[in-house]
Amino acid sequence: MYVLGIESSCDETSAAIVRMDETSREICANIVASQIDTHRLYGGVVPEIASRAHVEAVSRITYEALETAKLSLSDIGAVAVTTHPGLIGALLVGVNFAKSLAFSHGIPLVSVNHIHAHVAAAYLSEPLLRPPYLALVVSGGHTSLYHVRDEITFEEIGATRDDAAGEAFDKIGRVIGLPYPGGAALDKLAYEGDPKAFSLPSPAIAGDELAFSFSGLKTAALNLINSTTQRGETINRADLAASYTATIVRAIEKKVDQALTQTGEKTLVMAGGVAANSHLRASLTRLCAKRGVKLIAPPLALCGDNGAMVAAAGYFEFMAGRLSDTSLNASACDIMAGE
Ligand code: KG4
Ligand code: ZN
Repeated sequence: MYVLGIESSCDETSAAIVRMDETSREICANIVASQIDTHRLYGGVVPEIASRAHVEAVSRITYEALETAKLSLSDIGAVAVTTHPGLIGALLVGVNFAKSLAFSHGIPLVSVNHIHAHVAAAYLSEPLLRPPYLALVVSGGHTSLYHVRDEITFEEIGATRDDAAGEAFDKIGRVIGLPYPGGAALDKLAYEGDPKAFSLPSPAIAGDELAFSFSGLKTAALNLINSTTQRGETINRADLAASYTATIVRAIEKKVDQALTQTGEKTLVMAGGVAANSHLRASLTRLCAKRGVKLIAPPLALCGDNGAMVAAAGYFEFMAGRLSDTSLNASACDIMAGE
């Protein structure tokens, strides 16, 4: 069946069509209208501007997706939309659009959790993937480990207590003058520096608990930058990028290693915008090779926010019979009533 996926939880409006059944998983169209250039002017996402930009783009890109896939709405078996978590105004644009489209054309509607959608991207890059497996979700808003029991059952076994890894990258990126969002730029800059130049506190919580805390690391890096400036010196940005990245990557690798031991799983899925980080991909590739674990790291285009991952997650919601009616709403929180 063909599923149309609509994503508008943050600063990317996306519409995509995937063809999914028992064995095949094909992306027919995945159109992303990014607002990054607009938000860059402000150093971060401005929610009201994001909502307006979604309104301007959502209809146009949905029809562009249909055109690219050479399909019409009568071919679509389900409309899937991200309902939570995210920026409430931004989410509401996608939800209201998806509701109007689905009910005016008699197409079933399904609600999708954005985090689960990031994980579902892996089904598109690896059609043979079947649960159970361990999933690492690292994005601008989340850093979590899930024991995925089946396609719609996610047991959170670890998470950050405060900031997310993406937020930590973006914050230091901004302070050292990199364009928003700093994650990708820091990734590149880190190759030019010495990862041992600065010693920074690990965001991995000590012990068996699969928990992170990025706020102490962020503060330590900010203090380092400020004290260097106060001495009238300039911090070596590449050394800081390399040390900061290495500290984050080591912490994630450590908790993934523990999670693999605790769950006994032999498959690891990486998901979310920070899963695009080349240092993290290299480190988890090494770890998985050492442990004999299969690593599924979707291509970069499927790591950031996109409609194809929403459509993939929506397919499984549809197959489980979890359809939505006209009362469907959005929520800024991780969990919606009934999930
Ligand atoms: O998943 P995503 O597109 O949006 C959210 O759901 O949050 O993730 C965006 C985050 C941003 O913090 C961005 O800086 C980060 O992903 N990111 C990266 C890289 N590419 C994107 N972080 C580190 N290295 C990268 N190469
Ligand atoms: Zn996301």
